[in-house]
Amino acid sequence: MSRAQTDNTYGTVILVGAGPGDPDLLTLKAARLLGQADAVVYDRLISADVLSLINSNAEKVYAGKGRNRHSMPQDEINETLLSLAKTHELVVRLKGGDPFTFGRGGEEAEFLIARGVSVEVVPGITSAAGAGASLGLPLTHRGLATGVRYVTGTCRKGEELVLDWASLADPDTTLIVYMGLANFGTIAENLIKAGLDPKTPAAAIENATTKSERLCVATLATLKAEVTRHEFHPPTLIIVGRVVDVVDQLKFATGKYVAEFEELLDDAALP
Ligand SMILES: C[S@@+](CC[C@H](N)C(=O)[O-])C[C@H]1O[C@@H](n2cnc3c(N)ncnc32)[C@H](O)[C@@H]1O
Repeated sequence: MSRAQTDNTYGTVILVGAGPGDPDLLTLKAARLLGQADAVVYDRLISADVLSLINSNAEKVYAGKGRNRHSMPQDEINETLLSLAKTHELVVRLKGGDPFTFGRGGEEAEFLIARGVSVEVVPGITSAAGAGASLGLPLTHRGLATGVRYVTGTCRKGEELVLDWASLADPDTTLIVYMGLANFGTIAENLIKAGLDPKTPAAAIENATTKSERLCVATLATLKAEVTRHEFHPPTLIIVGRVVDVVDQLKFATGKYVAEFEELLDDAALP
């Protein structure tokens, strides 16, 4: 529903997680809101199947971003949400995965709340959970990983990637790197320098949960070369840790593999 432009109050903005790609992984609440929204601002990673759930009368605004290719700067996205909230009752800000996991959802919420806009959040399945389920790769597993850490593998152009390498080089924890494809060579080097075994299993999953999902299994030391050789592109998630061995057991014959991993099978130390 449209709002009067002269009214000083705002409609509601709901940050909605679209999940990792497969539309069946959308929450019921997300699907309902897409059918009810008066305006939807959506990102690059949202699949066409999910976009098809938006009601045909809604105003649709593309706010897609790519690495070093900001088609709409964050300030402009914030201002767009504010101005849509001025003229529409229900504005959905649709974000890939979960809005509060490397999605800048927190920044958007802060901006809007500071201006008196009411904001709600609908969580989505983050790509790490989607990838794990799709590949049969548990992120934690008794005897292999007692915890899981999510980190970003990106940094501002020209800046050094600063992460706590010593604490990340933990063989008992699964490390999930979002946005880490371009910098994975540096990431692997730093983890190895900090003491993580270069033979630690590592996987890259491109377009997880979609029809074009691809998986590359290698080791910490070799994954960068393998993903380069097989021309992996974003969105790709990287998983480092002993749980990657489990994928061999559970999904051996899927045909999704693009790298050799016999060496890993030989080394597998499953309980
Ligand atoms: C800006 S972050 C957004 C993360 C998102 N909010 C989430 O919860 O998954 C984008 C990164 O998420 C990861 N990603 C998102 N969707 C993915 C998918 N379907 N397959 C693999 N990685 C994905 C990639 O690492 C990508 O570079």
